[in-house]
Amino acid sequence: CLQLPISDPVWTCILGSIFLLVVCWFIKDNLRIKTIKEKYVLITGCDSGFGNLLAKQLNQRGFHVIAACLTENGAQQLQACTSPTLKTVLLNVTDPKSIDQALEFVKAETGSQGLWGLVNNAGRATPIGPTDWMQMDDFYKVLSVNLMGLIETTLKFLPLLKKAKGRVVNVSSVMGRLAFAGGGYCLSKWGVESFSDSLRRDMQYFGLKVSIIEPGFFKTGVTSLAAIEKDLLRLWGRLTPEVRDSYGNKYFEAYLKAQRLSMNTLCDSDLSKVTNYMEHALIAKYPRTRYGAGWDAKLFWLPLSYAPSLIADVMLWLLLPTPMGSI
Ligand SMILES: NC(=O)c1ccc[n+]([C@@H]2O[C@H](COP(=O)([O-])OP(=O)(O)OC[C@H]3O[C@@H](n4cnc5c(N)ncnc54)[C@H](OP(=O)(O)O)[C@@H]3O)[C@@H](O)[C@H]2O)c1
Repeated sequence: CLQLPISDPVWTCILGSIFLLVVCWFIKDNLRIKTIKEKYVLITGCDSGFGNLLAKQLNQRGFHVIAACLTENGAQQLQACTSPTLKTVLLNVTDPKSIDQALEFVKAETGSQGLWGLVNNAGRATPIGPTDWMQMDDFYKVLSVNLMGLIETTLKFLPLLKKAKGRVVNVSSVMGRLAFAGGGYCLSKWGVESFSDSLRRDMQYFGLKVSIIEPGFFKTGVTSLAAIEKDLLRLWGRLTPEVRDSYGNKYFEAYLKAQRLSMNTLCDSDLSKVTNYMEHALIAKYPRTRYGAGWDAKLFWLPLSYAPSLIADVMLWLLLPTPMGSI
C-alpha cells in the first residue's frame, strides 16, 4: 500500500490547524459593530443600480443614510420609497463645487459625530471598446467619474471619516484586476484598487478601515447593452477609413454579437450579491480588504487574474473576434 511521507500525527496536526484557522476566520468575519442607529453613511451614485439598492437596504437596517444622487428625479424617487432617516443630496463627483456643497450638507447632518461610512459607488462604463477606437476625451470621460471623482470625494470627506474612525468602501470591478476592454473603464478601476490600497495602509493608524468591492457582471445601467451598443456605433462611425479597414465590417458585427452574448449570459440580476458585501464592509467589526462579488467574479475572473498572462490572453482571444487585418 502507498506509504505517505508524513506520519499520521503530523497530518492530524496540519488538518486540525487548518480547521481551527477556518473556524477563527468565520467567527471574526461574523462579529458586528453596535449602535448602527447612531451612524451616518454617505453613498454616491444612488439614482440607480447598486447605490440605489444599498441606500434602501441600509435605511431598513436603521442607519442614517445620506444618498447622493446625480439627478433631482433620482433623489425624489428614492426619497418617496424610504423612511425619513434617509436624506438625499445632489452630487456630481466630477464637479468640485458640487462635492463642497454635499460636504456642507453632510457636516450639518452629522454634527459632532463625524461620518461612519463613505461608499464611493458612482460610476460610468462608456466609452468602452478596442483601444485604437478611442480618443483622449473618451478616457477623461470615464476617469473623471470613476477615479478622479472618487479620489476628490474621498479626500474632502476624510476629516469627517477620521473623526468617526469610520469606513471607506470603494467600488472597483473584476476589470480592476484583469484588463480586457480598451477605454478608461479598466484604467479607472485599476486606479481605484491602487488608491484604496494606499489609503488603507495610510489610514490604519487613525482607526479608519478601507474595503474594495470587486463585482463581476450585473444587470445595471453600466452594463446596459443599449447604451454600450449606441456608443460603439458612435466610435465605429468616427474611425478613420484606415483603422476601420484594418478591422473590417464583419469584425464590428461580430464584436456586437460577442457583447450581446456575454452581457446576456453573464449579467446577474441579483444586485444584493453586491450590496450585501457593501453592508458587510460597513457593519462587520473586521471588514475584509477585498470582496469579490458574484459567481463569475469568484470562479472565473478573479482566478483568471492570478493566472499567467498567456492563459488570460488565450481565454480572452477565444471570447472576442479577430480583426480582418490581423497578422
Ligand atoms: N453592473 C456591473 O456589472 C458592475 C460591475 C463592476 C463594477 N460596477 C461598478 O458599480 C458601480 C455602480 O454602478 P451600477 O452597476 O450600479 O450602474 P448604474 O446603475 O449606472 O449606477 C451608477 C450610478 O452612478 C451615477 N453617476 C454617473 N456619473 C456620475 C457622476 N459624475 N456623479 C455622481 N454620480 C454619477 C449614475 O447616474 P446616471 O444613471 O444618472 O448616469 C448611476 O446612478 C460603478 O462604480 C460601476 O463601475 C458595476
